[in-house]
Amino acid sequence: KKSIVVLVSGNGSNLQAIIDACAQQKLPANVSAVISNKADAYGLQRAKNANIPAVFLDHSTFTSREDYDRQLLAEISTFSPDLIVLAGFMRILSPDFVAHFEGKMLNIHPSLLPKYKGLHTHQRAIDAGDTEHGVSVHFVTAALDDGPVILQSKVPVFAEQDPEELAQRVQVQERQMYPLVIKWFCQGRLLMKNNKAFLDGNELEVQGYA
Ligand code: GAR
Repeated sequence: KKSIVVLVSGNGSNLQAIIDACAQQKLPANVSAVISNKADAYGLQRAKNANIPAVFLDHSTFTSREDYDRQLLAEISTFSPDLIVLAGFMRILSPDFVAHFEGKMLNIHPSLLPKYKGLHTHQRAIDAGDTEHGVSVHFVTAALDDGPVILQSKVPVFAEQDPEELAQRVQVQERQMYPLVIKWFCQGRLLMKNNKAFLDGNELEVQGYA
C-alpha cells in the first residue's frame, strides 16, 4: 500500500472522501498524516476521528514562506509518503518545496484550468457569464495552479446562479474524481514527465478551456 500525506486548510471534504476510499479498499493506500496551516481546520478533526496523525503547523510563527516550507517539508518527510495530496490547502508553495516533491504532489482546483487560477473561481465563472464550470486535478509545479492537468469534471452554470450553490455542485464532483486520480497514482499508472501528465503511458491532453 502507498502512503499519502494530505495537506488541508479547511473543511476537508476531499480528505474525507480519500479516507473513506482507503477504508473501503477502493484505494490501495493509507493516509499517513494530515497537516494543516490552520488550527481550526475541520480536516484536522476528520483525521483524528479516523485515528490518523493530525498536525497543525502554524504559518504565523514563521518569518518567511521559505522557512515555513522547510519545516513543512521536514514534517512531511517523517511520514515517508509516496504521494502528497493538496486538498483545499490555501497556501502558495515555494519552488524548493515543489521541486522536492516533483511528480509526487497533486492538487485539486475548482475551475476548468487554465481558466481561473487563484481564488474566487466560482464567482469569476458566474461574472464571466460562463455556461459551464468545473474542477481540475493536476500535478503541482512551481507556477500557481499551472501544472499538467490529469482530469477535469464539468458542471453547468444556471441563470442567476449563487456561487455557494455552484461550489457545492462542483464539490460533489471533487469527491468522486480525486480518489479516482489518487488510485491511478497509487497503482503506478500516472506520472509526470517533461511537465506533462501520462496515464498508462498515454499523454493526457485535457486542457482546452482557455
Ligand atoms: C475545494 O473546493 C477545492 O477545490 C478548493 O477548496 C475546497 C476545499 O474543500 N481548493 C482551492 O481553492 C485551492 N486553491 P474541502 O476542504 O472540503 O476539501
